[in-house]
Amino acid sequence: SRVVALVPAAGQGVRLGESMPKAFVPVGGSPMLTLAIDGLIASGVVDHIVIMTPAELVGEAQGLLAGHLGSACPVPVGVVPGGTERTDSVRAGIAAAPQASHFLVHDAARALTPPTLIARVVAELRAGHSAVVPGLPVTDTIKSVDAQGDVTGTPDRAGLRAIQTPQGFEADLLRRAYAAGLQATDDAALVEAFGARVRVIPGEPMAFKITTPLDLHLARTLLAERDE
Ligand code: C5P
Repeated sequence: SRVVALVPAAGQGVRLGESMPKAFVPVGGSPMLTLAIDGLIASGVVDHIVIMTPAELVGEAQGLLAGHLGSACPVPVGVVPGGTERTDSVRAGIAAAPQASHFLVHDAARALTPPTLIARVVAELRAGHSAVVPGLPVTDTIKSVDAQGDVTGTPDRAGLRAIQTPQGFEADLLRRAYAAGLQATDDAALVEAFGARVRVIPGEPMAFKITTPLDLHLARTLLAERDE
């Protein structure tokens, strides 16, 4: 079997407010992208990695990774242009990996994800689950609202999970889900829309997505402590 990790890194990171696209923003001296790739390689369960970056930064990412990983890198890493929306970027990655038996889709922005979480997702795939996502209980109460800001509902918090990546899929299931041409903020939603069962396993606080300046501050502080 061939586990291919697809790494969406083509976002501009508008909410982060930095001058460069998010995946290229350094955390503790390394761009988020290389930290995320290091985690995938360290997990020991990934056979191939495909990164999707903004089209104008494909060469930059290739140079960054060649310098960072060196020629002795145990896992082949390719870079392809992403798309306008995250879904378009993942679709480009799927097309670049026809050999995959399983896909992991893993945000570059989850730069500090523990390799053990990546290994747990793949273990669940190997145990026969066709779609596996990590999730944590939510600590805030979540409300749905309408366009005016009026509350339309308060779902029971106990039944909610905040979903992370890597998300793992049987390759053909993800290919078929993407062929439907829908958009979503995560890959599991496309698979759900397709009627497939998606299993949630316990996530990791350190797999948080670096989205806001506060997240970036937290990530930099955590890395500085780790490297002390
Ligand atoms: O916007 P958000 O934080 O949800 O993005 C999650 C991940 O998807 C990031 O790693 C980002 O670089 C990636 N992305 C992408 N292509 C886009 C938009 C986002 O690869 N068009």
